[in-house]
This record gives sequence, structure tokens and C-alpha cells, in this order.
Amino acid sequence: MSKKFNRTLVTAALPYANGPVHIGHLAGCYLPADIYVRYLRSVGNDVKFICGSDEHGVPITIKAKKEGITPQQVVDKYHKLMSDAFKEFGISFDIYSRTSSKTHHKTAADFFKVLYEKNSFTEQITEQYYDEEAKQFLADRYIVGTCPKCSNDNAYGDQCEKCGSSLNPTDLINPKSTLSGSKPVLKQTKNWFLPLDKLQPKIKEYIEQHKDWRSTVYGQCKSWLESGDGLQPRAMTRDLDWGVPVPVNGGEGKVLYVWFDAPIGYISATKDLLPNNWEDYWKKDDSRLIHFIGKDNIVFHCIIFPSMLMEHGEFILPDNVPANEFLNLEGEKISTSRNWAVWLHEYLNEFANMQDVLRYTLCSNAPETKDNDFTWKDFQTKNNSELVAILGNFINRTLVLTHKFYEGKVPAANKYTKEDLLILEELANAPDKISKSIEQFKFRDAISEFMNVARLGNKYLADTEPWKLIKTDEERVKTIMNIALQISTNIAILAEPFLPFTSVKLFQLLNLNPLKWVSSKQTNNIAAEHKINKDELLFAKVEDDIILKQLQKLEESKKNNQSTLKNVSEIKTETTFDDFSKMDIRTATILEAERVPKTEKLLKLTLDTGIDKRTVVSGIAQFYEPEKIIGQKVCLLANLAPRKIKGIESKGMILMAENTKGELCFVSPTNTEFNNGSEVK
Ligand code: MF3
Ligand code: ZN
Repeated sequence: MSKKFNRTLVTAALPYANGPVHIGHLAGCYLPADIYVRYLRSVGNDVKFICGSDEHGVPITIKAKKEGITPQQVVDKYHKLMSDAFKEFGISFDIYSRTSSKTHHKTAADFFKVLYEKNSFTEQITEQYYDEEAKQFLADRYIVGTCPKCSNDNAYGDQCEKCGSSLNPTDLINPKSTLSGSKPVLKQTKNWFLPLDKLQPKIKEYIEQHKDWRSTVYGQCKSWLESGDGLQPRAMTRDLDWGVPVPVNGGEGKVLYVWFDAPIGYISATKDLLPNNWEDYWKKDDSRLIHFIGKDNIVFHCIIFPSMLMEHGEFILPDNVPANEFLNLEGEKISTSRNWAVWLHEYLNEFANMQDVLRYTLCSNAPETKDNDFTWKDFQTKNNSELVAILGNFINRTLVLTHKFYEGKVPAANKYTKEDLLILEELANAPDKISKSIEQFKFRDAISEFMNVARLGNKYLADTEPWKLIKTDEERVKTIMNIALQISTNIAILAEPFLPFTSVKLFQLLNLNPLKWVSSKQTNNIAAEHKINKDELLFAKVEDDIILKQLQKLEESKKNNQSTLKNVSEIKTETTFDDFSKMDIRTATILEAERVPKTEKLLKLTLDTGIDKRTVVSGIAQFYEPEKIIGQKVCLLANLAPRKIKGIESKGMILMAENTKGELCFVSPTNTEFNNGSEVK
């Protein structure tokens, strides 16, 4: 930071209002942003913290269709859920706004008009799929068809989820509209594009002025700029009916591209927060703009939004974009659709008043330089061995001893030893170390420096043993306890950005009004004779059963997923018709069924195959009661070599398929008029 800044505007990515917030979001951007802002506030900087819900885009319209409600109902629901969860978790936004607001629609439309009037856009006519029954153009996600690469029949217009190929809607074989089921037709449409190709030199210059950015962020920008033919024009309007209407002639039935309007949401939110002086933060050269985001948002914040701002001309550009990598959960990618996540609103319910434990775990493990893993075991260790055993233990011993020895009154220090002076010096130096890390967006280092202050205190008490010394040297103990109380007070100050709830509680226990960062460079913040409050524990141990419960909850998701996944497992390697016809599959009827004794899974079945009556042992006892399947029609692989199972000779195998719950179900002829022994071919 060579330049002198007088104001800082910090933004955290506007989350899509189509699902709740999980730990990946927190670790990726909301928590680091909050730590940064709380720190700047404590230091006394002029800072504003901006966020809100991103309420446009195709996925929200799809969710609405699925649930049979309007997009507005979807975003209303999640806007409230997310906003409440952030608040309860202590994310201290100055405003949590939303992009369906009037202010935003106007701000985004006006922004578009400025660029339009400056001729910043190019108009391009492209061919897009159109649903003639639903009378609308189809977003890529609204088209399904057969994947040209793997023949999956349910590939989307932008991607095949089975083989992972990214697609264009026109790549699909037999495309179908998900709106009406009809075959879409190609129709011409005009949209406005931002010619990033022409803007490339300016963007390059901007990026290259920011070699100080995180190497992961700078590197990604460079590779966008240098890849293939460089930047390509990108459509800033879309044929869709949910979003900010395109405010120019010919824009009827179209909306602004969600990634055009969403970052403008930062501006609209600032307007709502500061109707009279929002421009100071966006347009003055001594203001600094910082975007906290996850790595999947880098191109939008480092290339596209700056291009928009440059073209507009009145705005400052982002000064830093400290994007985080991803947080995994128990070794696997967090996934909303697979319910592989720790949801913030659930955590807040299940771990009441333990916000700071999650904040501590997520910050000490923040995916700043590479993807990282959240595990419940680690959560437990961080709580039990660090928060409880170090921080909590130090504070608790200090408070308890102060009550025991001095009836809760801070004793005056009388004479410092050399050792004491070293401790006080280290205490006075801690804030600058923490500041330096925070200012460089190194929050893991910062929180570990913070914890070192508690370590220092803990070690000081362990070394000096005031509980023993009180019997032999009362005067000395006064100085020791005074120092322990100074350390505790400074911990309360330094904890604020990271562990705000703990900070508040600690100030209460110390019976002090909250102090600001600058005081933490002093070591005489709590006065002799000051009366502290009754002691209370700051942290409680997390027992194994709590962790086990969380792991079981995840295990449940996994089970549910595996069963759904199995239904769509990869196609096996190619086979021939000859191979197939070697298999003799016949229709048959179950005549008798009984459990195989001493087994859980096996049923012994007697089948009428039309040719013979035979015994088959089948592993379906978990799914069917024997008495309920008498008369069940089935398909049987009749020429499978006989096998002895639990002493019973089994001749053949019944064909089964898994349902979505992972239960085996019979594959049987649906027509009632069939004979046993009819060949399946
Ligand atoms: N909604 C986007 C996401 O969750 C982020 C939008 S950030 C903004 O990935 F800048 F566009 F607002
Ligand atoms: Zn595919």
C-alpha cells in the first residue's frame, strides 16, 4: 500500500439466493472479509462492508419451476435465511441488500445505458434455441438432449453431467425444451456484447499493475489474458424473463446478464447504505475497493467488472481481490445437490453459542493458498486442544485466581523481573505482527499470531506458578497476576476481529468497556483496584459423541448419494450381440420364499420357469418379506452356472435394479399375459 487511502469499501461476493450458506462460502469469502473489516474498524479506519443476495440468473428460475413457485418467492425465502444466518454468525455487514430491489434495478439499468450511449457494446445477432410452444428463448440449462460424447440422454445445453464435457446447446443430439418438451427451433436474436477482445490491452495494463495480488489470483488473470486467442466478446444481455430488463430500444423480452448486474449490486447496496455520500467510496481516488470472493469468481471481479467500470469511466477500480481457493469437507468437494456440506443455519442450531469455534476452525484452516479440508475431527481438536486448553484455560486460571487471592480486584504490580519485562515486551509487539498479517490478507497467520498471545499467557502462569508461590511470596504474586490480567485484557482486544463473541464476553468478565486496537500496544489497560466480574468458562469441550453424530449425518448423505449415483454409473465397456445372446434370460414366477437361516440378506426362492421348478438363492431379504413376494413375476438369468450358497444349490440369478433409495427392486414383465419361460431378448 504505497498510496494513501482515506476510505475502504470492502465487498463480499453476493451469494445466489437459491440455497442456504455452507462452511465453504464462509471460509471462501465471508469470514476473511469480516475479519478484515472488524480489524479496520478497530484500527479506526473509515470502512464500509457491503453484501447482499444475488437474486437473478437462470438457476433461480429453474429452482422456481421445480418447486412450482415464482422466482421472487424463491429469492424471498433464501434472502431471509441467508441474511439471518450471516447475522447470527457475526458477519458484520454494514448492509445486506438484494438485487431484486428498486435501487438496484435502476442503478444497473442506468449503468447499462451509460455504456450503451458511449457505444461500448457491440450488437451481435446469434442463433439461439427458441421454444415455440412456450414462446421464449431457451437458456442453455433449459435444453436437454443426448450428449454427443457419451450418449447420455439427459445432457444439458451447457454441460453433460455424466461425462463432464462442456457443451453448446447446438451440440446436443435430439434437443428438447424442458419447458414444454417440444423440439426447440433455432431463431435469430440480437444481444449486446462487451468486446473484451478490444479492451484486452487496457485490462492487461490494469492487471499488470497488481503484481502484489495473491499469486493464485494474478496467475489466473494472466492465464485468461494469455490463453488461446485471448479475451473474447461476452454477451451482457440474455433472452430471459427474470432479471433487470434491458433498458434500450430492442431490449424487450431481454434482461441484463446476471454477471453484468450482480457486481453493480455492490454499488446499489452502497447507495442504499449511504444515500448522500456513496460516491465518495466509489469515485474518489483516495478510496480503496476490495473484493472478497471465492476462486470461481476471479474472472468476473478481475476482468469483466473492471472492464465495465473502465468503460463507464467514473469509478475507481478494485485495488485488491483476495480470492480464496476451495474448502473441501472430509476429503470431498462440498456439494449442495449431494447434500455434502455443513450448513450454517444447521450449525447455528446444533452448536448454540459456538459461533467462534467455527470461526476459529475455518480461519486457522482457511484455503488461502490452496484448497483445504474441513474435518469434524479437526474441529474437535481445534476446540479442545486450542480454544479450551490454551485460550480458555489461561483466561479461566487468571480470573479464578484473581477472585481467590484478591476478591476479584486487580492487584497492583510492584516490581518487574527480567522475565516479566520480556513478557510485557512480547505482549506489546503482538498487535503489529497480527496487523501485518491481516493487512496482507494472511488470516491464517494472523489468527495463529493471536493464539500465540494466549500461549504466552499460559506459559507465563505455568512457569511462575502463582498458585504455589502465594504461600511463600505474596508480593511477587501481585505482579504476576497483574501481568496475567493485562494479557487477558489485550487478548480481549485482539480477539475481536477473529472471535467477536468471545471478545465481548471477555470484556464483560473483565468488567471493561471494549477497547480499540491501538490500546493493545499498551500493557496497562486494566487498572489496579479495578473489580472484575465473576468468572465463567469461555469454551467447553466437544465430546466424541457430538462429532460422531455429525459424521453419521454426513454418512447418511453419502448413502443417499451412492444409491442415486449407482443408478447413473458409467456404461460398461462395449459388448457384442453374440455375447448377449449367450445369456438365457427367462420370465418366471416365485412359488415359494423363505429366509435362509442365520443370514440377514438371503432368501431361498422356488421358481416356476415354465421349463422346471428350481431353487434360487437371492440377496434381497433386506428389501422384501418372503410371504409378500409369492406370485411375484421376475426375470431370471437361467443358464448361470449353479453355485452353492450357504449349503443350498442356487440355479440362476434374479434380475434386480436399485431404486433411488438404494433398495433392490424386481425387474419384471409389466404385461400380465405372459408365460413363464418366455425368453428376454
Ligand atoms: N452469486 C455469485 C456466486 O455465488 C457471486 C456474485 S458476486 C457479484 O458465485 F459480484 F456478482 F455480486
Ligand atoms: Zn456426456
